Amino acid sequence: MNKDLLTVNALSPDDIGRILDRSAWLKKTRASGVEYHPLKGKSLGMIFEKSSTRTRVSFEVGMYQLGGQALFLSSQDLQMGRGEPVADTARTLSRYLDGIMIRTYAQSMVEELARHAGIPVINGLTDLHHPCQALTDLFTIQEKRSTLKGLRFCYVGDGNNMAHSLIEACVKMGMHVSLGCPAGYEPDAGIMREAKQVASQTGSELMLTGDPKKAAKDADIVYTDVWASMGQEKEHAQRVKAFSGFEVNDKLMKAAAPDAMVMHCLPAHRGEEISASVIDGPQSVVFDQAENRLHTQKAIMELLMSR
Ligand code: CP
Ligand code: NVA
Repeated sequence: MNKDLLTVNALSPDDIGRILDRSAWLKKTRASGVEYHPLKGKSLGMIFEKSSTRTRVSFEVGMYQLGGQALFLSSQDLQMGRGEPVADTARTLSRYLDGIMIRTYAQSMVEELARHAGIPVINGLTDLHHPCQALTDLFTIQEKRSTLKGLRFCYVGDGNNMAHSLIEACVKMGMHVSLGCPAGYEPDAGIMREAKQVASQTGSELMLTGDPKKAAKDADIVYTDVWASMGQEKEHAQRVKAFSGFEVNDKLMKAAAPDAMVMHCLPAHRGEEISASVIDGPQSVVFDQAENRLHTQKAIMELLMSR
């Protein structure tokens, strides 16, 4: 595995397999009440430029459960917020910490931080990627279905950070991916191009359509995310219009396999990208996903920070 976790694509299928196996082991160990402290004496810095509930709490609690500690570093309070260069911040923090998790806007900023840090850097979400969530989602799917390869994964909605990391994750593991996105809100063309190349090696089918029903046809998993991501609040009204017809609701779910699982990274907007009946219905696994952030992040931190 590389020093950092910046995108799913930088991981090999073997790396992903190790993260998923370790997530399962850590989940079982925690449930059995056995304490496990491979990161005793280590510290993780968590830099946040955007809001978070799941990422912040699961990293902080996860670090504690692994025997270490986590520091919440609001970018507004850091000198970085007053213009200290990212490279100097990386070099300084590397003298105190054993790992950095960062949630910010530009992927290039996370890459710059990682380049100058002597310690592992974990991407806790950028405008372009959300690898920790996508890896957790693979773990949740594997937990529920005992396999990944050959499953039909459908994503309906905005071709955003979540879509990008999920596309990369699913094709790496040989899942078939169908995307239903409105015109103008498709995933990044470069990410799609690279995913097609990976898909040709892993036997995945990758399909993008403007018809959500076509995307959802016979799907084993139907996934959606918000229409306006963090930083796009001003576009909300315009996006609600553009995404009309893309709600994951009971009607759309009729196109999917009868036992299809419904997934959402949360936070969700009931009545926009997903109906209350679906997200709160029997096919939804959204809170298992939320719980699993803890187990998968512990796996990621253990693999990167105990070396
Ligand atoms: N899914 C997710 O990353 O949630 P938070 O924004 O609450 O961290
Ligand atoms: N696409 C969403 C994901 C939140 C976890 C956002 O970036 O706001």
